[in-house]
Amino acid sequence: MTGCALIDVRLIHALHLTNDVLRPAWIEPGRRSSDTKPGGIGSMKTTEALPLEQHNIEIQRNRQAWQHKPLLQDIYRDFYRTIAARIDPSQPGLIVELGSGMGAIKEIIPQCITTDLFPNPWLDRQENAYRLSFADGSVSHLILFDVWHHLRYPGTALQEFRRVLAPHGRLILFEPAASWSGRFIYQTFHHEPVGLRDELTWEAPAGFSAKDADYYAAQGSATRLFWWGEARPRLAGWRIDEVQPIASFAYFASGGFSGPRLGGRFLHGLMRGLDWLTAPFPRAFAARLLVVLEKNSP
Ligand SMILES: C[S@@+](CC[C@H](N)C(=O)[O-])C[C@H]1O[C@@H](n2cnc3c(N)ncnc32)[C@H](O)[C@@H]1O
Repeated sequence: MTGCALIDVRLIHALHLTNDVLRPAWIEPGRRSSDTKPGGIGSMKTTEALPLEQHNIEIQRNRQAWQHKPLLQDIYRDFYRTIAARIDPSQPGLIVELGSGMGAIKEIIPQCITTDLFPNPWLDRQENAYRLSFADGSVSHLILFDVWHHLRYPGTALQEFRRVLAPHGRLILFEPAASWSGRFIYQTFHHEPVGLRDELTWEAPAGFSAKDADYYAAQGSATRLFWWGEARPRLAGWRIDEVQPIASFAYFASGGFSGPRLGGRFLHGLMRGLDWLTAPFPRAFAARLLVVLEKNSP
């Protein structure tokens, strides 16, 4: 199949998905989404075969790419400012990022403790989302930037987040948005599955240990759980403060870390104008999704 034909087929699939009614599709602990793949666009790609080390390969590659992509840096700084605006300085406790990867958030939030599964030398410490080393109630803000969709068992991770967060502490997620255009772009140009029709597994099976965490990716996870509301019945003890789709044609056009960049600064200026025009139509155009949850009881 030629590249154009491939894109045509994907476009048809993406448009088809705009009519998709997404119903909760939880499966029992212990079963993997790949065991029962129903087919459809979300299961076109799979990451089942990738080792956990794949994350570290991408961290090193992204850190290299970062140096040569000043426009991407500008876009990320804006994203970090969006996150910084959700930090309540009156809340006592630590500000912690999980899955910091290349660790660039410190440029905008210098007091943030950067962490990752991989103890790269530029990070403050090594942490696994499923078993954190922070004391109960010691964290005021937990930030996950493009990390939530790598958690195979989001409900299990949420329990651990609740443990370390202080009362009224905030969990801030920044994720891909599976709007119509988002689905098309992420599906076509990114190697990770979007997974809109795959089953999600809320809790880890009995006997799961944090060191069993494996490579997993479903870019549409936060969209499904928080924007479309699949997680709502499961959020006892949390208050949803904000679910904010964000238009960012500039981000799409930047090519991210691995894709080709479209245009220079002038075009990016125009894209920002386009973002302003399309912001009222998030279902069609959102590129990113900001989610803020608050721990609402001790
Ligand atoms: C897509 S990268 C995002 C990295 C960084 N936040 C950024 O925006 O460049 C996902 C990151 O999540 C980390 N990660 C995946 N599973 C994790 C877990 N269970 N606990 C902590 N970090 C995890 C990976 O090591 C990787 O650095």
